[in-house]
Order: sequence, then C-alpha cells, then structure tokens
Amino acid sequence: MTYTPNLRLRRMRQHPQLRRLMRETNVTPADLIAPLFIHHGKGVNNPISSMPGQHQYSIDQLGGEIKALRGVNIPAVILFGLPDHKDALGTAAYDDHGVIQQAIPQIKEMDPELLVIADLCFCEYTDHGHCGAINVQGDNFTLDNDKTLNLLGQQAVSLARAGADVIAPSGMIDGMVAAIRDSLDQAGFCDIPIMSYSIKYASSFYGPFREAADGAPMMGDRSSYQMDPANAEEAAREAQLDVIEGADMLMVKPAMNYLDIIYRTKQAHPEIPLAAYQVSGEYAMIKAAAQNGWLNEDKVVAESLLAIKRAGADMIITYFAKQFSQKL
Ligand code: PBG
Repeated sequence: MTYTPNLRLRRMRQHPQLRRLMRETNVTPADLIAPLFIHHGKGVNNPISSMPGQHQYSIDQLGGEIKALRGVNIPAVILFGLPDHKDALGTAAYDDHGVIQQAIPQIKEMDPELLVIADLCFCEYTDHGHCGAINVQGDNFTLDNDKTLNLLGQQAVSLARAGADVIAPSGMIDGMVAAIRDSLDQAGFCDIPIMSYSIKYASSFYGPFREAADGAPMMGDRSSYQMDPANAEEAAREAQLDVIEGADMLMVKPAMNYLDIIYRTKQAHPEIPLAAYQVSGEYAMIKAAAQNGWLNEDKVVAESLLAIKRAGADMIITYFAKQFSQKL
C-alpha cells in the first residue's frame, strides 16, 4: 500500500490523553500474584542474593511483607516452603505440621482477604531435589510417575486442610491434575480450584529460584518431565490434557521467552483463566541490569508486565508485584 498523508497514526498519538484512551492493555495490582519463600524456624529474614529485594521469611517475620502487599492491593500470594528436613520421598511436603501447613493459617490470620495459593511440588522437599519420587540406577534416575501422583494427592489434601484457597501443582507430572482433583474431591475439598503449571519449560531461567527455594536437583536435570523450549505444539497438548483432567486455570512458565506460547494457549482456551509466571531469572536479569545503570528499572518492569498481559495472560506471578504496585 502506498503511503498517503491520510493514513497516519501519529495524529492520534500526539495527544497524551488520546494515547491513554487508545490503550488496549493495562496492568494493575489486581492482576498480580506475589511469590513468597517461607523458611522453617523462627527469626529468619534472609535476603536472596541472586534476587535483590526478595527474602526467605520464617512465619514470625512475614507480617511486614503481608501488610505491604495488601497495602498496595495485591490480591494473592503463592507460597514455596523451605522445610526443616528433606528425604527421598519429600515427606515434609505432606506433613500436616509442615512449614506451609503452618504458614497458611497464620497468613489468613494476618490478612483474611489475601488469596493463598499453595505451590504443590516435591523439589523443595526431596533430598535429591527432583519433583517427585525417583528410581535410581547407578548415575541415572527415572521419575516414578505413579508413586509421585499418590504423594501429590496427599500433599494437596494436607494443604487444603491447612486452609489453602488454590492448589497450584508445578511438577509437570503426567496425570497430576486428575490425581489431585480426585484426592481433593474424595477428602471433601470439591471447592478448591486447581491452577496447573500446565506448560512449564525445562528452563535455565529458574537458576535464582533454586537458590531461593534450595531445590536444585542433585543429579541430572528436569528435562525428562519439563518441556523442551523448542516445542510449541507439545505445549498445546499439555494444556489440552490439563483441561480434560479438570484444571480450573492454566499457566505458562517462564513468561518472557514464551510470549508466543501464552498467546497460543489463550487463543486455544479463551474460556480458561491463564496465568503466566515471570520467573526468578527474568527478575534477576532486570535487577542486575538496573543495578548497573544499564536499564531504567521502573520502565522495564512495567513494559515486561504489559507484554505478558498483552500476549494473553489474565494474571501474572511476579517478584515485582509489590514494587510495581508501589510505583503506580
Ligand atoms: C518447582 C518450581 C520451580 C519454580 C517454581 N516452582 C523450579 C523448577 O522447576 O526448577 C521456578 C520459579 C522461578 O524461577 O521463579 N517445581
């Protein structure tokens, strides 16, 4: 098409008011979920070196953070636990007196309005650091899928009993949504929604999280159960399976490198709420560049969240939740 002076967008863009009126996407605190790392014991307030501004808190140290999040209208938190002991089966994950099981009622007491999402995975609780039970043969391991499903069911019920509002299984275990739904229903928790980490890539952008949650695998990596970053059709299949199994919400993770996957997933399942997880590595990169004076932190944070929402996410799990909302 030939350019003619009649076809210009600048005519509208020159007015700041019109630019705002034309805005298609908007990110507000109501779209954001803040991750929290809950450490066992008392008096713990450890800064996480690879994630400046993030801390591991013991329950008694959480009050200030919960207050700050609610002060800027963050509606929800997602909890990760650092238990006092790890073993091959991750028994601390489904212990009714486990760190998250204790944290949930305390958080509810601090703020009854805050939605508490419990991440459901074994990598923080197993001594080998994998996301379920494994069978070891020499230097190799295989994930024992069915044994893990059984354990995940127990973990889900234990967290529901503790008062979790939403269960978010993050282990990419085949059949996890159906198994967890079944266990929850049988225990009478039919009303607890499942937010499934349906499409989770075997990403190197989880690096800082593994320091934060002390969940790095001792051998091998997670590529036998997490997705190959090369694949998009397979992501469609993962989402479809989770929908069939009864997932109430879907998730794509990480976010920034996978905006196409967010877009495709929303197009394929417009009726299902979609979350995206802006992961630890995405956070760390922005922080590091900003600390060096190489990027304008506030602008880059706002742009990154906007892009994730524009791609199709209805909600975003982000370590920037509080900071972004404070700056608004
Ligand atoms: C555990 C889990 C991980 C993250 C969330 N849940 C780590 C992993 O799969 O290795 C990563 C989150 C982040 O990097 O911020 N299954």
